[in-house]
Amino acid sequence: MSKQTQEKHLRFPLARRIEHWINGAAFITLALTGLPQKYFEAPISVGLITALGGVENVRIIHRVAAVVLALVAIWHFGYNIYIWYVQRKNPSMLPTPTDGFNAWKTIKYNLGIDKERPKQGFYTFEEKMEYWALLWGTLVMVLSGFFLWNPITAAQYFPGEWIPAAKAAHGGEALLAVLAIIIWHMYHVLIRTFNKSMYTGYMSHEEMEHEHPLALHEPPAPKVEPAVLKRRKSQFWIGYGLVATIWLVGVIWFVTSEQTATATIPEPEKVEAFSPLTPTPFPSPDAIPEAALRYGTTWETSVGTIFVSKCGECHNPRNGEKNLDLSTYEGALAGGDSGPAVIPGAPGISISLFWPGFEDHPGKLSPAEFAAIQEWIRNGAPEK
Ligand code: HEC
Repeated sequence: MSKQTQEKHLRFPLARRIEHWINGAAFITLALTGLPQKYFEAPISVGLITALGGVENVRIIHRVAAVVLALVAIWHFGYNIYIWYVQRKNPSMLPTPTDGFNAWKTIKYNLGIDKERPKQGFYTFEEKMEYWALLWGTLVMVLSGFFLWNPITAAQYFPGEWIPAAKAAHGGEALLAVLAIIIWHMYHVLIRTFNKSMYTGYMSHEEMEHEHPLALHEPPAPKVEPAVLKRRKSQFWIGYGLVATIWLVGVIWFVTSEQTATATIPEPEKVEAFSPLTPTPFPSPDAIPEAALRYGTTWETSVGTIFVSKCGECHNPRNGEKNLDLSTYEGALAGGDSGPAVIPGAPGISISLFWPGFEDHPGKLSPAEFAAIQEWIRNGAPEK
């Protein structure tokens, strides 16, 4: 083996690798906490959400990962601008006409028409396509995510229909991105060739010959005068400092401007029912519609429902005002402190009929209900 073939070629410096894995971790987290919310009925989603301690946790984890992604984006932007403006280094992710030709030649190679894969440079057209898809996809997710995170703020500037549209776009783009990673990315970096450069940072000479032959012959970046470099650096820091600050403020605004979709309404506390004694100034609405009252006048078919819904709140075994329980048939017949509440066959002296008519008694009967109960008592107050 000659010296040259043993040579290793730096592909991704440590900073790039760290960036990639933080981005990857955020992406996987977003997918695992996002897709179960989109496909919430699927058993696997239910299992995942349960394992993560419920949907509230899942939503919080999703948002934390989204913030991580936004911070990685700020870093990525600065890193690239630095390489492009300060160092003026190749290689570039910008697409060129050659990439178009390479794509065409690759299709022909895959179809068996061409004998060889096209020779490509440091970044192949496959990598560039994926890179721009990631950038575009992230932009779609950030914009649509803003609509879901801050619906009221968004609706002040855009039509309200954009909110469900953003939800559809967010879920659709998520699915597309996950499938692109599984199919396109995993195929290219793990199956077609097993590319370790995102772990080790390096590629062997042989791998470079195979994957990026043209990069081996690219001239190194021209040397820059230290004074020029210094000037560019300070320009970079002023410009990027400004952009990054605005960007960061934007992220903070994104996260904090509105709590509509983030706040969790606490579950209502379970307490013993308490009935206020304040008289109701307005007659309460009919417990059951008049039409229903025409059918059968027994406790079970209609009268019981009236008593339970209009009187049972205060006159029940737990909260028996005047020891009167109107929530059961037996209780209604037995009555309270003032005697039997219902006397079968005698509507005129059954106190549960006239008592609700008193001004200061909070429970009221509508005329239709009054008539129905009167009729029922006259008929002997049958239970069934
Ligand atoms: C919001 C609470 C509340 C509701 C609802 C209510 N009541 Fe009362 N009821 C009271 C209170 C308080 C008293 C005792 C004060 C009074 O005598 O007015 C009482 C007393 C009575 C008494 C006298 C009991 C006795 O033995 O002295 C009768 C009868 C009665 N209510 C019937 C009814 C009927 C029938 C309904 C349903 C239409 C009803 N109440 C709905 C609070 C309620």
